[in-house]
Amino acid sequence: MTDGLFLGFLISQSFGLGVHGSAAAYQAALKGAKVLGLEQFEFGRVRGASHDTSRIVRKSNSEPEYVALVKSAYKDWAELEELTGQKLLTTTVGLFSLPKDAPIPSSNYTRSLAANDVPHEILSSKEVMQRWPQFDIPDTVQTVYDPATGIVHANKTVAAMQYLARFKGAVLKDQTLVERIIPKAGGEVLIATPKGTFHVRKLILTTDAWTNRLLEPLGTQIPLRVMQEQITYFKPTEPAELENPRFPVWIWGGPQSYYGFPCYGEPTIKAGHDCANNFMSPEERTYVHSPRLQRELSECLQKFMPDCGRQPLRTITCQYTIPPDRRFIISPLEQNKDIIVGLGAAHAFKFAPVFGRVLAELAIDGKTDEDISKFGIPKNVSAAPKI
Ligand SMILES: *[C@@H]1O[C@H](CO)[C@@H](O)[C@H](O)[C@H]1NC(C)=O
Ligand SMILES: *[C@@H]1O[C@H](CO)[C@@H](O)[C@H](O)[C@H]1NC(C)=O
Ligand SMILES: *[C@@H]1O[C@H](CO)[C@@H](O)[C@H](O)[C@H]1NC(C)=O
Repeated sequence: MTDGLFLGFLISQSFGLGVHGSAAAYQAALKGAKVLGLEQFEFGRVRGASHDTSRIVRKSNSEPEYVALVKSAYKDWAELEELTGQKLLTTTVGLFSLPKDAPIPSSNYTRSLAANDVPHEILSSKEVMQRWPQFDIPDTVQTVYDPATGIVHANKTVAAMQYLARFKGAVLKDQTLVERIIPKAGGEVLIATPKGTFHVRKLILTTDAWTNRLLEPLGTQIPLRVMQEQITYFKPTEPAELENPRFPVWIWGGPQSYYGFPCYGEPTIKAGHDCANNFMSPEERTYVHSPRLQRELSECLQKFMPDCGRQPLRTITCQYTIPPDRRFIISPLEQNKDIIVGLGAAHAFKFAPVFGRVLAELAIDGKTDEDISKFGIPKNVSAAPKI
């Protein structure tokens, strides 16, 4: 146990404390740490990437480290549900379709799933369309089928995590902008806010698009690109055909990547274009969706999920913050090991409970048993983004 350790969290993501900050807060509190969580906006904000309702939880990933970590995440999701008495994860089936020109071939997915003993199949387009006649996909597409994919409820998750953190003694403060982080000799970090200065032993930064503002005075920067993304809820002609488990969670892993959900809590389906590169900083964000991107999404859906009566109902924006290779960052700063950065690169919601646990373990134990060897702080190099 870590009695007496005063652990500071600095969290200024999206939904009040965003999902990763909230996860780190409850996981550290469960480990017995004294936790302070700070959030620059009010709880319940929609400024980052932790709001709205649904997120995909999937194991299909071309890199085995992510598959291993998501397997741990499933255990942490179950624990979070048990400790809070909330049902957060709904099991669905999942399809990951890879067209001929996919940047990552299907064999990379099957290899990394096999290396982690995850049951899966490769389906031909014919097999996909036999089981799910809602799709119309070319012969050349290979689809990775994962019988145990899932959907988590996003903002309910964040609220449950914050509840659990507080229940375990964490102090979470909203409307508390961190102006500066000041490392002191002797292993203490000062956090300057308009409401006073806090002294902490360890600092976890899950500040997403706001990370570099805080790192700059420490003489360091992480190469990050920030964009406003959007998803659209559509009213389908036949919602009953698109209910879970009749209809899967799906991903189209082409050069442009798309994803979508079965009906979830309402007779609509949600879909999005992953990484539409609508670059803007948090200060420039409009929260107004792009009609062009919405039209492109509708046209694209029409190709592989034809439904002439489908109508876009509402479009919601969110924010992506991604390093050049789109890998997670889960790492102490090289020049100050008391400051630990956690950044999910806009594909980590599914990992959130384990993401937070690893951050808490690094802060409290100085190590973790999870393999985070690929998740160091990236250098400022350009590389093709991956999903
Ligand atoms: C979650 O998001 C939905 C849709 O944006 C909203 O209607 C609901 O009030 C939110 N719930 C919480 C707990 O914030
Ligand atoms: C696919 O896997 C092979 C073998 O591990 C690797 O060399 C290649 O870089 C991977 N492709 C992509 C696009 O990640
Ligand atoms: C990365 O490098 C580019 C060009 O070399 C430079 O303009 C940019 O400011 C650098 N970004 C960071 C975060 O260091």
